Parts: sequence; C-alpha cells; structure tokens
Amino acid sequence: MDDIAPLKAAALADFAAAPTLAALEQAKGAYLGAQGRFTALMKQLGTLPKEQKPAAGKAINEAKAELEAALAARRSELELQAALPKEPTDFTLPGRRRPLGRLHPLTQVTEDIVRSFRKLGFVVADGPEVEDDYHCFDALNTPADHPARDTQDTFYLEGQGRPLLRTHTSSVQIRVMEKMPPPIRIVVPGRVYRRDNADATHNPTFHQIEGLYVDRGVTVGDLKGTVEFVFREVLGEDVKIRFRPHYFSYTEPSFEIDFSNALVKRMGKDWLEIAGCGMVHPQVFENVGYDPEEWTGWAFGFGIERIAMLRYGITDIRLFYENDLRFLRQF
Ligand code: DAH
Repeated sequence: MDDIAPLKAAALADFAAAPTLAALEQAKGAYLGAQGRFTALMKQLGTLPKEQKPAAGKAINEAKAELEAALAARRSELELQAALPKEPTDFTLPGRRRPLGRLHPLTQVTEDIVRSFRKLGFVVADGPEVEDDYHCFDALNTPADHPARDTQDTFYLEGQGRPLLRTHTSSVQIRVMEKMPPPIRIVVPGRVYRRDNADATHNPTFHQIEGLYVDRGVTVGDLKGTVEFVFREVLGEDVKIRFRPHYFSYTEPSFEIDFSNALVKRMGKDWLEIAGCGMVHPQVFENVGYDPEEWTGWAFGFGIERIAMLRYGITDIRLFYENDLRFLRQF
C-alpha cells in the first residue's frame, strides 16, 4: 500500500513531461506494460494475506484508473500539438490566392466612364428600376399624349399607379432634384428597359449613363467640353465629337452627339450617333421646384453597350448577356 502513492505520482509526472506521442507510449510501457513498474505492483496483490487483499485491490484499481485518465488527457494534448503548424502563422501576410473571376466588360467600361467624371467633381447617384409614370415621363415634360412616349414603350407591372420599368436613367434626374437643392453634379449609371426585340444592336434591357449639371450660368460650352473630355479619356485622344440639333422634351435646346475616331472609321463610318443631351428645360426645373430664372443646367444620356461595342470591336450586343465564358474571359 505504501508503494502505490509514490509510484502513481512518478507515473503522473512522467506522463505529463512526455514531449511527444512516442515518448508518452514509452512512459506508458514503463509503468503499465507487461514488464512495467505498476504492473509489477499489481502482481504483488496475489502474495498479500487474504484480509489485506480487498483494500489493496481497491487502492491499486483506483490508482490505475487515474493513470489511464491522465494518459488519455496527455495523449489528446499531444495529438492537438502535432496537428498544429510547426512554424507560427503570420496572419498579416498578404494572400497567395489567385484572383477569382473578373469584371464584366460592361462593368469595366462603366467604371472607366465614372472614374473620368469623378475627376471633374461628379458624384454617382442611383434610382429605382421600377419607376412610376411621373418620374419617367410626366416630370420630364413628356405627358401621356406626347408622341415621344411611343418610342419609349416599356413593360408595365401590376400594382398601384401601374408601375413600369424605367426606359431611361433620366428619371433619376427628377428624383435627385426633388431631394436636393442646386448645385447638382451627378452621373447615374444604370439598367433601363424598352419594349423591343433582341437583335445584333437591340435588347429589351440595356445600360445607360445619365449626367446632370445644375448651377448658375451653365452653358452648352460646358456640356461640350465635359463630354469631349470624358470620351477622350475612355475611347482615345483621337476622338472628335459634334452636336446636331435634335428634340427631347426635357431639354431645350436639345442635341444628339455624334462621335468619330479610328474605331468608327474601322466600322466604315465617319460619325456614329452616341448620346442625347441638351440644356435642362425650364418646365423640368419648375416640376422639381427650382427657379428656372436663377438656375441653368445641362443633361445627357448615353448607352453603355454602344461604347463597349465600339471600344472592343463587338458586333452583337447579345454577347454581353449570354455569360459565355469564352467571351467573358477575353476582357
Ligand atoms: N433619355 C434619353 C434616351 O434614353 C437620353 C437623353 C437625352 C438623356 C437627352 C438626357 C438628355 O439627359 O438631356 O434616349
């Protein structure tokens, strides 16, 4: 009985000190193996007088159970240690992961255009794709019986006020001016919808960028200079633009912007129509509560697909929406 406690203590100390799983197995053998010291102690049980056997047996079994528990605990400790990396991990190191995926060409073109406008102090504004008649048409001086509505037929939804999918980002001009007093300098990239069949140059949904600049004394010259700056940045220094008189109900005067450079020449053309623009109509200012005697402004809108097609020499607009990896991986 007197040998049990010191032997147990020695075994527990050796188990706890074992530095590896192999060392632990060795220590286990030294005490509990066939030739082990603790096993030898147990063997002595048989030599004890009968009346001492129960107490000694109980003590030795309890000690053995303790040793086995200590072994198991140390074993899982060492297993965990073995599973940890040998070198400490520096979590502040930059990752080695390869970049996954890439930006869609339309996103790339949009970001380039927006970056260019930011240099001139424009900020990005946003508005809903599900619009109402008022913001898409009426507030832009296009009442229900106006012929311009025919060219912008769209998809109508069920619900109160007959919501529709916006036909242009121009609706965001109204939403921003309703909320904020002048001066305003915004660009609005976004998705628009038209009731149209899909072919090489048309799709029922596409993307536009709208611009709106309102301040005192704003001129057509500012408009022309701004558009020229951005197109040269996005499509090259050889870009020429020209303004042709046009009609939009929310601008007066209104223009279409034609554009020319080597890319257009490559398509066998001299000029390509690229955007609509003009000086904000006084009625539009009235509709949003701006004083047209005090404030002046210009606005424009153009299609992003058109510009991306030009830039990359793409001849079918539908390629943008098919998500064919063979196409997307080229950008
Ligand atoms: N909203 C026109 C369209 O979708 C483009 C446009 C023309 C926007 C003139 C304007 C503008 O802001 O002033 O065809």
